[in-house]
Amino acid sequence: MHLLGLPGLEMDVELHGIFAKTRKFQKDALVRTVTNYLTFFVIFEALIGAVIVIFEWVGLNSSLPRIIAVPIHLVNTFGLLGSYAILYKILQDDLQNIKNMFNKNFLLISSLFLLSGATGSITALADVLFPSASFVEGFLADFDRTSEVLTRLRILHPIISSTLSIVLYVYATGIRKKYNVSVKPLQILILIAVFLGVINVLSNIVLPLSILHLAIADFLWISYIYVSIDISKNNLFINSL
Ligand code: HEM
Repeated sequence: MHLLGLPGLEMDVELHGIFAKTRKFQKDALVRTVTNYLTFFVIFEALIGAVIVIFEWVGLNSSLPRIIAVPIHLVNTFGLLGSYAILYKILQDDLQNIKNMFNKNFLLISSLFLLSGATGSITALADVLFPSASFVEGFLADFDRTSEVLTRLRILHPIISSTLSIVLYVYATGIRKKYNVSVKPLQILILIAVFLGVINVLSNIVLPLSILHLAIADFLWISYIYVSIDISKNNLFINSL
């Protein structure tokens, strides 16, 4: 049927229909893929949790399997949070493609995030199993060859997370100038995470500070995912011009 007797207009309407269908199909496929990842991380999280409880890798248990399970658990939690944040953004911003997001910068910064999380969980475990009497005693124990391996591994976290903080802060400043993307929340969260980490070490580990530090690390990771998706949207927009 010719719409209003105008063949051009009819073709336009048809093309619009095809475009809308393709868009919907692409979005559905993307949502399905991310949902599969999310399901995987949720199931794995539950399995690790169950294994930890069944084998009693809790309390003051300092066995090797526990030392391995704890960082895996934390890295999986980051995977879960990341997939959830990506899914939320896809649905909220009606995205059909996020391929641009997975570039070299993203892989480098995400790896630093996962390493920070893994080493942070080892530090937290060391602090629970082998607490120090004071900051100075703890600091000396970190470099004492006779200390527990877990205690000597504690130093890895400040090194890796400080590297992450510097790289992320500089990167955020760069992308604010290049794309018109808001990075303020990301930069503020970096500063709070570092501040809480340092205060916690100096005050010889206080539980509320540890919980807050972990929460801020999670918010930081989610904010980073949001910013990465915003940049990828920006890139797609520029490429399609
Ligand atoms: C962006 C930077 C940072 C991130 C993403 C980060 C992330 C984390 C994570 C995920 C944990 C594990 C918490 C847990 O399993 O309970 C942790 C623990 C810890 N972090 Fe950080 N961290 C950062 C910076 C720092 C810095 C700069 C320091 C110190 C100089 C620090 C000191 C600690 C300490 C001492 C713990 C163990 C706390 C405890 O014993 O409960 N963190 N961090």
